[in-house]
Amino acid sequence: MHRYSLIALCLAGLAVAPLQAQDETPQAVRAIQTCAGACHQDTIRRKVTHGVTLEKCDACHVLTNAEAHTFSLTARPEDLCVRCHALPMRTHAHPPVAERACLKCHDPHGSDHPAMLLADPKGDLCARCHDRKQLQGDYVHGPVAVGACIVCHEPHASAEPALMRKPERETCLTCHAEVDRSGEADWHTHPALERGCTGCHSPHASNHKFQLKAEAPDLCLTCHEEKIHTQTADAKIVHGALHAPGGCTDCHEAHGSRLTKLQKVGQVEECLGCHNERLPAADGSILTNMKELLDRNPDHHGPIREGACTACHLPHAGDRFRMLVEDYPKQFYAPFDINSFKLCFGCHIPDLVLKENGRGLTNFRDGDRNLHWLHVNQEKGRTCRACHEVHASKRPAHIREAVPFGESGWMLEINFNQTEVGGSCSPGCHKQRSYVRHDDIKPPGPTTAAETTPTLAPPGE
Ligand code: HEC
Ligand code: HEC
Ligand code: HEC
Ligand code: HEC
Ligand code: HEC
Ligand code: HEC
Ligand code: HEC
Ligand code: HEC
Ligand code: HEC
Ligand code: HEC
Ligand code: HEC
Ligand code: HEC
Ligand code: HEC
Repeated sequence: MHRYSLIALCLAGLAVAPLQAQDETPQAVRAIQTCAGACHQDTIRRKVTHGVTLEKCDACHVLTNAEAHTFSLTARPEDLCVRCHALPMRTHAHPPVAERACLKCHDPHGSDHPAMLLADPKGDLCARCHDRKQLQGDYVHGPVAVGACIVCHEPHASAEPALMRKPERETCLTCHAEVDRSGEADWHTHPALERGCTGCHSPHASNHKFQLKAEAPDLCLTCHEEKIHTQTADAKIVHGALHAPGGCTDCHEAHGSRLTKLQKVGQVEECLGCHNERLPAADGSILTNMKELLDRNPDHHGPIREGACTACHLPHAGDRFRMLVEDYPKQFYAPFDINSFKLCFGCHIPDLVLKENGRGLTNFRDGDRNLHWLHVNQEKGRTCRACHEVHASKRPAHIREAVPFGESGWMLEINFNQTEVGGSCSPGCHKQRSYVRHDDIKPPGPTTAAETTPTLAPPGE
């Protein structure tokens, strides 16, 4: 049949329908049969068809000129759909919805997509207007990459800003529940999370891994600038770790941790992650390989056994040498001042070096004579490092194996030996000295105060 005849037939069906009262077939059905059945099959042959379209074409179309087969809509396009569909009013309306341009997304008759959409709502629909390029970067968020915008956004309107289906943080947690473990016992959540996830992540895409808005340390400094700035700005030493790749996240978890201060792992493990080689320090010196030192010397100093390197070192920056938390003489010999030993005497009793009588105070005494007082409490006092290792040792009481001699780096053996009642040492440069705690037992060798003082040559300082 000729194309025009079909149109005429369709037109006739619609036009005459209201007049044929005796006909048993309801007029709308006849209209569908005529219009859709004959010519406009595409209006109903879709996977998803508008219920109304199946029922009656004239819910939306009115024949205006039978001859010309022209129709008008029963209402202006922007009023047509809302006659039957009152979309819930919410604070934030999507502009095309506010303009009631429903047909920019929906087909009035039907389509192959749910809700008669013009394209897959978990695919290309939103890209009809939103340039995907603006949402691109080297790292694109999974749902964005496939175009599934509506998992997060309402298409019509929302009470939340940015048309979010749920408050932003809740949205993220529907898929990434494992990130927020604040319900768990002993869990420290980073307070940043309370302000949502997008303080650090772009919901769409970015040029940084994990769609981060920036890399650490810049990322962290967006909120911690002031604090870190105060710590580092005028500091004599800024820890190399702060500038290492990864910056803050080498040591800190971003979301939360079982450890305090969001620490990633126990401090010893954390610090030795980098201090497992001889790193060059800012002052030109080459730092000890701490991992090797601790592995080689099984007797670790109390705080290290407790996993607290920061009992003595600041983690970020500091003014004292080696970023120590308290004063400690830098030199091998130092004029005695109790304040210059604040580091050690934050934990150990100061009387150790303040009292001449050492009974009940220290094992390092000859009779009652306090040999700590004797060595340290002097104009040219020996600092603790003359005899003790501060990190770890093999000898009892963390006595060193050797002390550096002169600038040469030559190490002088101390040969410390502990006995039940005292001890002895025989540094390479002079004969053995010993001490005995009980008055009734005479120590071997010289016992006078002057003679028990080791006469070690000064190291480089
Ligand atoms: C005469 C009333 C009426 C008008 C006008 C109307 N609809 Fe509907 N619409 C309905 C009814 C009734 C349903 C429910 C039956 C169904 O699910 O198909 C519906 C269903 C829908 C659905 C849901 C389909 C689904 O799969 O869940 C969408 C989307 C829709 N209409 C969009 C529109 C759009 C867009 C317009 C304007 C072009 C429009 N409607 C105009 C009555 C109407
Ligand atoms: C819910 C309202 C609605 C119903 C019901 C409806 N249409 Fe439409 N139809 C429209 C709208 C809106 C347009 C687009 C008008 C425009 O773009 O100006 C349209 C366009 C058309 C067109 C123009 C070509 C095209 O497909 O875009 C034809 C033909 C058509 N409809 C046939 C039908 C037939 C046949 C039926 C019944 C089987 C029907 N319509 C039912 C709303 C409806
Ligand atoms: C920006 C695209 C877009 C525009 C514009 C739009 N819609 Fe929708 N609409 C959607 C999407 C996407 C869905 C499917 C929602 C889903 O699956 O959760 C939908 C679903 C619907 C539904 C099904 C029920 C529901 O709420 O899920 C109706 C009815 C509907 N829209 C009516 C309208 C009407 C009326 C207008 C115009 C005032 C309109 N839409 C404008 C995208 C749009
Ligand atoms: C017909 C064009 C059109 C389509 C299709 C469209 N949008 Fe929009 N959308 C706009 C316009 C215009 C704006 C306002 C300007 C802007 O922010 O880009 C907007 C803004 C938005 C906003 C920001 C709202 C705010 O308050 O900040 C979001 C979110 C959004 N659209 C999501 C979507 C999603 C999701 C889809 C797919 C379901 C979609 N859009 C499809 C036109 C469209
Ligand atoms: C994982 C959830 C999620 C997905 C998926 C998502 N968005 Fe967003 N979108 C957001 C959030 C959250 C915001 C709020 C702005 C912010 O915090 O950066 C937003 C904001 C927007 C805005 C407002 C302008 C802006 O960038 O701030 C537009 C437009 C937008 N989204 C469009 C889209 C489009 C288009 C898609 C799909 C290609 C999409 N979104 C997918 C979560 C999402
Ligand atoms: C509908 C589920 C869904 C929602 C909602 C969602 N995401 Fe995702 N997200 C994914 C998927 C899928 C991936 C990619 C798969 C993967 O790598 O784990 C992903 C990956 C990520 C990644 C990168 C993970 C990696 O290992 O590379 C980050 C970061 C992320 N999402 C953050 C967010 C944030 C922030 C929000 C809220 C704005 C959010 N997600 C909302 C599903 C979701
Ligand atoms: C303070 C900044 C910050 C906030 C806030 C934040 N993240 Fe992250 N997120 C990161 C960093 C940094 C990484 C990379 C992990 C790393 O380097 O240790 C990451 C990684 C991820 C990953 C991928 C790897 C993993 O750990 O699973 C997902 C998924 C993720 N974030 C989701 C979220 C969600 C969901 C929220 C909100 C509840 C959120 N993030 C809040 C900084 C943040
Ligand atoms: C969106 C803002 C924001 C960003 C970005 C941010 N933080 Fe925070 N962070 C906070 C707030 C708020 C607190 C709690 C107040 C404070 O201690 O300053 C906090 C506290 C901390 C604490 C102390 C926790 C405690 O238990 O005392 C650490 C450690 C921390 N943040 C590390 C980081 C690291 C590492 C990054 C980068 C991956 C980062 N923050 C990025 C907001 C942020
Ligand atoms: C070498 C490991 C390390 C690096 C790198 C590091 N931190 Fe820390 N940070 C720590 C340790 C350890 C603590 C806990 C100190 C303590 O024992 O109280 C801490 C404490 C904090 C605190 C809480 C206490 C305070 O000082 O206010 C914040 C906030 C913080 N760090 C942020 C950052 C930021 C931001 C960066 C990157 C610029 C960073 N950290 C880099 C190890 C590190
Ligand atoms: C990401 C690698 C890294 C981690 C983790 C790290 N450090 Fe460092 N550290 C360095 C580098 C590089 C230097 C040398 C540059 C410098 O002097 O700051 C250094 C230097 C030092 C210095 C000597 C500072 C000076 O210049 O006198 C001390 C002390 C120190 N670190 C202690 C620690 C402690 C304690 C921890 C654990 C809380 C730790 N480090 C974790 C990289 C790291
Ligand atoms: C009891 C206090 C204390 C503790 C705990 C401590 N340190 Fe030290 N650390 C010091 C002192 C004091 C120095 C300076 C030593 C010297 O010059 O005699 C130092 C020096 C260093 C140096 C520089 C070494 C060099 O070659 O000059 C590094 C690196 C270092 N410590 C890392 C660590 C690490 C890692 C931990 C945890 C495993 C740790 N420290 C625990 C007190 C401590
Ligand atoms: C944060 C606290 C703390 C600081 C600071 C500290 N110590 Fe200790 N020290 C301890 C603990 C705890 C022990 C182990 C006591 C035990 O095992 O009974 C210990 C043990 C020792 C021992 C060995 C005692 C023995 O009988 O084996 C010596 C020697 C020592 N410290 C010297 C020092 C020196 C030198 C400094 C300063 C550079 C110092 N300590 C700083 C806590 C500290
Ligand atoms: C001349 C070497 C020498 C110097 C210098 C020295 N010590 Fe000792 N210290 C010893 C010896 C030897 C012992 C072991 C005594 C014993 O158990 O027989 C000891 C033991 C200790 C003990 C274990 C408890 C006790 O007193 O028996 C502590 C704590 C200690 N020293 C801290 C320090 C501190 C802090 C400094 C620096 C202010 C320091 N020492 C300086 C040689 C020294």
